[in-house]
Amino acid sequence: MKILLTGGAGYIGSHTCIELIESGYEVVIADDFSNSSMAVLKRIKEITGVEPTLYNIDVADIASLDELFAKEKIDAVIHFAGFKAVGESCEKPTMYYRNNIDTTLSLLECMEKYNVKRFVFSSSATVYGNADRVEYVEDMPTNAVNPYGRTKMFIEHILMDASCADKELSVVLLRYFNPIGAHESGLIGDNPNGIPNNLMPYITQVAVGKRERLSVFGNDYPTPDGTGVRDYIHVCDLAAGHVAALRYSEKNRGCEAFNLGTGVGYSVMDIVKTFERVNNVKIPYVVTPRRDGDLPEYYANPAKALNVLGWKTEKTLEDMCADSWRWQMKNPNGYTEE
Ligand code: UFG
Repeated sequence: MKILLTGGAGYIGSHTCIELIESGYEVVIADDFSNSSMAVLKRIKEITGVEPTLYNIDVADIASLDELFAKEKIDAVIHFAGFKAVGESCEKPTMYYRNNIDTTLSLLECMEKYNVKRFVFSSSATVYGNADRVEYVEDMPTNAVNPYGRTKMFIEHILMDASCADKELSVVLLRYFNPIGAHESGLIGDNPNGIPNNLMPYITQVAVGKRERLSVFGNDYPTPDGTGVRDYIHVCDLAAGHVAALRYSEKNRGCEAFNLGTGVGYSVMDIVKTFERVNNVKIPYVVTPRRDGDLPEYYANPAKALNVLGWKTEKTLEDMCADSWRWQMKNPNGYTEE
């Protein structure tokens, strides 16, 4: 069975690629390397013994995408490709809507033309936005509060409409919580461009000496230690969730959303302290004002993914901290040296 991964060279895409190959799937990657590295392909081969087929294309470019669909007999699509920085999306909303929505529409048009009926979408917990409870459940209304989140929310609606119109279509919306960690080989991991926006890559860059200290964005939230609480999930658990979703899409039609999280919230200081303890390194930090747009606390209710997909997380916060650090230590400059 042949699976198209758009954005398959990215952080979550590359880990999912490995999980798919190890589960016996054939993988075709479409990536324009705007936020990922070609070196990932060799690393995937080192880990799995298989180098996935690569199309270096912009998925929004329908002519290139059509060529791919004409050449490969694709059975299902997992759509990761997209811009993902919340702050940048507020500065350049048009660019975010154009890119994230165009790529999805091009895919849907090609899937219709080539009769491909299974679509797994890389959505985000950010679609829930400012909700009135902190344990997110799939049937809560979506209410994203920034352009990035709204691209995910609008794409979910586009995919729901597509599945209403075509009763043979199977769409799975995967709402990720906060992916951290790396493959245990230390060969692939999160490789942000420039100054990291997210907590874990910032911590690992402090640990490796690339940044002086972490800024903890606010310690006056109504949470146990005053710092923000999130549901951190190991990227390999997240990758396994995609394989479960793919299996589900083989036997089911319609459109379903699933939270992919652990169900447990940890604070920023929980992460810092666990990282220090597990890896025996100091993380100097300073408390700064809250970051605009951050919510105090949220985490997943993961019951639906367990009951329907038969999937749950296996890795601990200790695993996440150890694996993030191994990746950073082995690759202090990410993939850039290659
Ligand atoms: N934080 C810091 N200092 C930093 C970075 C983050 O204190 O340098 C704090 C944040 O305030 C927050 C927590 O660490 O409390 C996690 O922040 P991240 O930036 O790592 O993650 P977010 O929860 O803000 O957002 C992430 C992704 C989004 C995605 C969302 C889904 O960046 O793309 O999870 O839940 F939509």
